[in-house]
Amino acid sequence: MLVLGIESSCDETAAAVVESSGVRPRIRSSVVTSQIEIHRRFGGVVPELASRNHLKMILPVIEEALKRAEVGLTDLSGIAVTQGPGLIGSLLVGFNLAKSLSFATGLPYRGVSHLESHLFAAMLEYDFDFPFLGLVVSGGHSSIIWMEKLGQYTTLARTRDDAVGEAFDKIAKFLKLGYPGGPALEEAARSGNPRAYPFPRAVMKNRSLDFSYSGLKTAVILETRKHPAPLSPSQVSDLAASFQEAAVDMIISRVETSLRQQGVNQFVASGGVACNSRLRERLAELSRSLGVRLLLPSPPLCTDNGAMVAMSGLLYFQAGLTSALDLNAYPIEAFYQPGKNNK
Ligand code: KG4
Ligand code: ZN
Repeated sequence: MLVLGIESSCDETAAAVVESSGVRPRIRSSVVTSQIEIHRRFGGVVPELASRNHLKMILPVIEEALKRAEVGLTDLSGIAVTQGPGLIGSLLVGFNLAKSLSFATGLPYRGVSHLESHLFAAMLEYDFDFPFLGLVVSGGHSSIIWMEKLGQYTTLARTRDDAVGEAFDKIAKFLKLGYPGGPALEEAARSGNPRAYPFPRAVMKNRSLDFSYSGLKTAVILETRKHPAPLSPSQVSDLAASFQEAAVDMIISRVETSLRQQGVNQFVASGGVACNSRLRERLAELSRSLGVRLLLPSPPLCTDNGAMVAMSGLLYFQAGLTSALDLNAYPIEAFYQPGKNNK
């Protein structure tokens, strides 16, 4: 089977061709174009600009992915596309294109969730099957999901306010570390003391595992204002390291509780923030101490890409599941209705 995957949920236009071969699927090609330079001067993703640039890039990116994979549309078994969640204007570009391609060629298509795709990215590098516990930490999500079987998922924790990546981006912007914020903050934290400032680690009432990053963000801002401007480089590094440690602690404690609760021995962590070396280190330590197999994709597969979408498509097509043409994209997680309009 050869599947084309299309991703346009945020600020990356991506397409990839994945082939099912042998034990583990193989990436035949993966093309990711980022809009970082377009959004840099605004310090964050501007939705309208993102959709316009997806429109410009989507066909060249797909053509390039097919070319690098040395295949034509007629060689494909199906097309997978991100249906949601994400920026609706951005999603619609990829989603409508996939539906049009499906209509024009007669190829089946499947709308897949951005979250399941982040987790299925691990299947491109590790051999494993359901059930497993999944952590998606990105610019839009901080979710812990119990992945029971294909299409059957239970969200154990989600964020009540900012996603963790969003908090990294905003604090990086506040500390004038540059854009995109996550990697810049990690760099600044490298030479800082993670115990310099004891920032709060939010815990919810009623044993809820939900995340909240607004208190941590406020604490960093209030601490910064206590010091006369401009901050010295070592103060900035200490603030960055202390923020990063608190943000990572909040993830680790929730993952530990979820792993114990579910009694599962396979754990996938993905999404852009899973590129963070401190988080990767702490997840490795935790998995070792609990005797759990950690399935952590390499950084290029953690951030948004088309291969993870194609991987999701492969699973659905292998199970004989496709989508109907009257399906629509959805912007937020709560709108996801598994099975609706899907065959
Ligand atoms: O998964 P992704 O590419 O897109 C979304 O679905 O949001 O994740 C992007 C997010 C951004 O917030 C970015 O700052 C964050 O991932 N990120 C990082 C690192 N690399 C990317 N956050 C912390 N440390 C990093 N090294
Ligand atoms: Zn993502």
